[in-house]
Amino acid sequence: MTTRIIGTGSALPKEIVTNDNLAKIVDTNDEWISSRTGIRERHLAKEETCSSLAAAAGKMAMEDAGVGPEEIDLIVVATCSPDSNFPSTACKVQESLGLYHAAAFDVSAACSGFLVALHTVYAYMNSGLSKTALIIGAETLSKLIDWTDRGTCVLFGDGAGAVVAKADDTGIIQFVQGADGSMGQCLTCDERSIVNPFNQEAKPTDYISMDGQAVFKFAVTKVPECIRQVLEESHTDIEEIKYFVLHQANSRILSSVAKRLKMPVEKFPMNLDRCGNTSAASIPILLDEMNRQGMLKKNDKIVMSGFGAGLTWGATLLEW
Ligand code: COA
Repeated sequence: MTTRIIGTGSALPKEIVTNDNLAKIVDTNDEWISSRTGIRERHLAKEETCSSLAAAAGKMAMEDAGVGPEEIDLIVVATCSPDSNFPSTACKVQESLGLYHAAAFDVSAACSGFLVALHTVYAYMNSGLSKTALIIGAETLSKLIDWTDRGTCVLFGDGAGAVVAKADDTGIIQFVQGADGSMGQCLTCDERSIVNPFNQEAKPTDYISMDGQAVFKFAVTKVPECIRQVLEESHTDIEEIKYFVLHQANSRILSSVAKRLKMPVEKFPMNLDRCGNTSAASIPILLDEMNRQGMLKKNDKIVMSGFGAGLTWGATLLEW
């Protein structure tokens, strides 16, 4: 028994912020941002929230899959920027979409989160605990950004992507995932301080902080490594892969991974020029765009790979 994706959806906030818009608030320009990252614009939430974007993407994925609310028995949301510590985003999605037969919880693995959620659902399905699941990556990272820090504020965007997955005989063929907490300081965002009647020392609010070059080096090394691993473990020839659907952090990272795998960059679809880095949402948003454009045909083999804070990484080989 494995896990098959049978529907996709996505939701982006209405507000589009271009690189020129950002140049009005920090010392940057379109040429620097687009040449270093490939990003030209991103969507930022105004009236939307993490859970409203998650629910909108989930609803669309269920419509695409032709699955009704009573069929969903598990909701897993990957996010590191939820509306609340609790209830979880998954519980809010359950309420919003009326999925009252489903267990619901969030996972936190930053930009690798969607794949970790998908692998978790695979484990549930493989052990007979779930038959039809809703898996969502949803982020409102804009609230975690220091908008005076030009090194990070130009990179991220808000949005959500979702898939419906079913227990089936085909689908996920192999996956790997890993973490290296010793490199955790490369990319951080602290929660609020522990303040209580016995400890009054509050630290100032923290925002995303990053050693960009360390993260870049990690990504261009680890992503090809885990993709090769997933292919080797499944005895799959890389030439069989139609698309490499990677976390959308930076077009230079994606081009470098393509080069290291000796694959044409055309096999690495990108939407980061329009969305920026939407963390756990980036892979399912891209997957939804590809699905709606008819790029994915039955039996196509694709590899998805995510990487990010933790540091964490993962790769999934699946048959569409
Ligand atoms: N606009 C203009 N100049 C900027 C800038 C911006 N938005 N951000 C940084 N700079 C400046 C720096 O201040 C520095 O100036 P200096 O040489 O005068 O000190 C110069 O540009 C080079 O900065 P550096 O940080 O060395 O640039 P870089 O080539 O490493 O590119 C990133 C920076 C962030 C684009 C790149 O490191 C990166 O993409 N890393 C991976 C980040 C990532 O993907 N994180 C998420 C992973 S999930």
